Parts: sequence; C-alpha cells; structure tokens
Amino acid sequence: MAGRHRICVIPGDGVGAEVIPQALRVLDAAAAACGFGLEFDQRPWGSAYFREHCLMMPPDAAQVVADADATLFGAVGSPDVPDAITAWGLILSLRQQLELYLNLRPVRAVPGAAGGFAMLIVRENTEGEYVGTGGRLYAGTDSETATHTSVFTRRGIERAVDYAFRAVPEGGLLTSVTKSNALPHTMGLWDEVTAEVAARHPDTRWERMHVDAVAYQMVRAPERFDVLVASNLFGDILSDLGAGLQGTLGLAASGNVNPQSGVGIFEPIHGSAPDIAGRGVANPLGAINSAAMLLDHIGRADAAELVRAAVDATLSARITPADLGGRHSTREMGDAVLERMA
Ligand code: NAI
Ligand code: MG
Repeated sequence: MAGRHRICVIPGDGVGAEVIPQALRVLDAAAAACGFGLEFDQRPWGSAYFREHCLMMPPDAAQVVADADATLFGAVGSPDVPDAITAWGLILSLRQQLELYLNLRPVRAVPGAAGGFAMLIVRENTEGEYVGTGGRLYAGTDSETATHTSVFTRRGIERAVDYAFRAVPEGGLLTSVTKSNALPHTMGLWDEVTAEVAARHPDTRWERMHVDAVAYQMVRAPERFDVLVASNLFGDILSDLGAGLQGTLGLAASGNVNPQSGVGIFEPIHGSAPDIAGRGVANPLGAINSAAMLLDHIGRADAAELVRAAVDATLSARITPADLGGRHSTREMGDAVLERMA
C-alpha cells in the first residue's frame, strides 16, 4: 500500500536529541521496506528554543502537532532551566491542549531474560493528580502551607477505563489500580465508574487492586498482569517500575493518544538524562520502540512488526549499550537494528 505520512519530530534536549535521529533512520528504513513514504517535519522546540524566545515552543505548536499524522518526541529538561518550565512548557501542555487522554506504556521482558512477561499500562493522561491545581500560602514562614488538588471526572475515568477493557487480549485480565481505602473520594469514584464500565464488558476478567499491592506484585509476579489501568500519578510511577523490570529506562516506549481525534505523540519514557548527554552512549531502543508504536498508530502494523522484530533480534544477539551492560554507542545500536531489518 503506497502513500505518504507527515510526521512531526521534536527531538528536544539532552539525549532526546541523540536518540531521535536513530529512530528516524529506522522509520525511513521501515517505510522503504513496506512501500510507503514518510515526511519528517522537524521542530527545534525545547530548552534552546526557550533561551531564545522565553517559550519552550511557539503558540501554534499544538496545531502543528494536530495537523501531523503523528509526532515523535525525544525528551526535555536542562540543568539550567527549571523542570516545571520545561515540562509544563511542552509535553504536559501538549497532552492537555490536545486532550491526549491515554498514555500507553507497554512493558515486556527483554528477549532472552528469565521469566517472560508482557503487560500494557494504560495511564489516564489529562487529569487526576496532575491537573496542576494548588498553591502555596505563607511562603517562607512557619505557617507555610501547600495544596495540590487532584481532579477526577466521571468522563475522564470512563474513557480511560473503557479503552483499557477493549485493549485486553482474549482470555486476558484487566487490573484497575486503585487506593480507595485511603482516598475514598477520588479513588471511590474511580472504582464506581470502573465497575460500571466492567458491566459493559461482561466477557472480560477484571480485578481491582491497591496501587501498593500492584507495585509488589509487579516485582514478584509480573507475568500475572495483562492490562493495567491507572490514574496519572499511579500510572507514571508504575510504568517506571515496569521499565525497571525490563532492566532499563532506556528501552521503554510510550504513546500519548486521543483515539477520537487520532492525534498521537510517541516518546521514550526516559527524560533528557543530563548525566550521560553528549557522550553518544544513550540507549536509542526506547525511541525506536516508540517509533514502532507510532507506525501502529498510523496504520502501518507491518512496518511496526518489522521494527520490533529487529529490536528483539538485536537484543537476542546481545548487542547492547551501556545501560544494559554493553559497549555499543547510540549510533551503533541504530546500525544494529537497521542491519537486522535489511
Ligand atoms: P532521566 O530519565 O533523564 O534519567 C534517569 C536515569 O536513567 C539516568 O541515570 C539516566 O542516565 C538514565 N537514562 C535515561 N535515558 C537513558 C537512555 N536512553 N539510555 C541510557 N540511560 C538512560 O530522568 P531524570 O534524571 O529524573 O531527569 C532528567 C531531566 O529529564 C529532568 O530535567 C527531567 O525533568 C526531565 N524529564 C523529562 C521527561 C520528558 O521529557 N518526557 C521525562 C522524565 C524526565
Ligand atoms: Mg515518568
């Protein structure tokens, strides 16, 4: 099937700008192998842009992302710019402006590692604990007071949980992550809405589990999970735990999507890693796995499969970068994946 897709590319800061070029090489090769075209619209948004314009991205950025068929993002964050500016000025703002209410984070065992597991964490991505409502009173005094209010809506919970139920494979299990014992208001609503959604999916097995127990079970018995659905904060933490189970943050991929509008931003879950940036040693496989998710999103499952198989073959051949104990550079990892796609 011929055709062309327009991909917006935001490499960002630090290792983001190092891993994204490898993902683009892989995307080009996958498109060529499967007979379609990709056009990359690269945008220099991030901390360097901020130093020049006092903004992390231009005011029309959300429109640019919405107009593309999909977006590939690296990471943002610089030691000389406050994290609240880099995060809220770009990725968190795009997630909210574009209502990218799902954050999809697949976690699976590295090929060859002991104990196979594969799970999908569906994280609610636009509300909950990360709405940004709150403030500081009496700053700098003994009475200093901070509030940060969570906001959960019936609609917001319902659409995330409903997506998660639909994502459960035949015979699989849906785990709803809660903490309604300690947070009866917000998580109480979460549980009620989940039970209502579950009633509409009578053929799908599901359970409710407190977030602390989920963390424990993910370490003890990760193979028991198939799809988990969690609030913004819980999903954020559990997906880094998932990355730890895989052995490194450097492998983990994610997608921020709105299935109704079709807008999607795909990104490795790691940050800009200033501790290793500039040395050419960052693991690009998280970015490459994110590119595979992007290919699925634009309807190119064959190309996505080709990329995933090449990543698996690379790891099976024990070709690894420093974070997995190997000596291969960022570019050499890209080369290795490309060789296995040929
Ligand atoms: P981080 O993910 O950048 O780094 C955590 C650890 O993982 C570091 O030891 C780093 O060297 C390692 N690491 C990360 N990516 C790697 C890769 N591709 N290959 C090998 N090792 C890798 O998280 P950290 O240190 O908490 O934050 C650093 C900056 O990144 C901060 O400014 C933070 O705000 C930002 N950040 C941005 C995110 C985004 O843009 N979506 C997400 C998380 C953090
Ligand atoms: Mg995180």
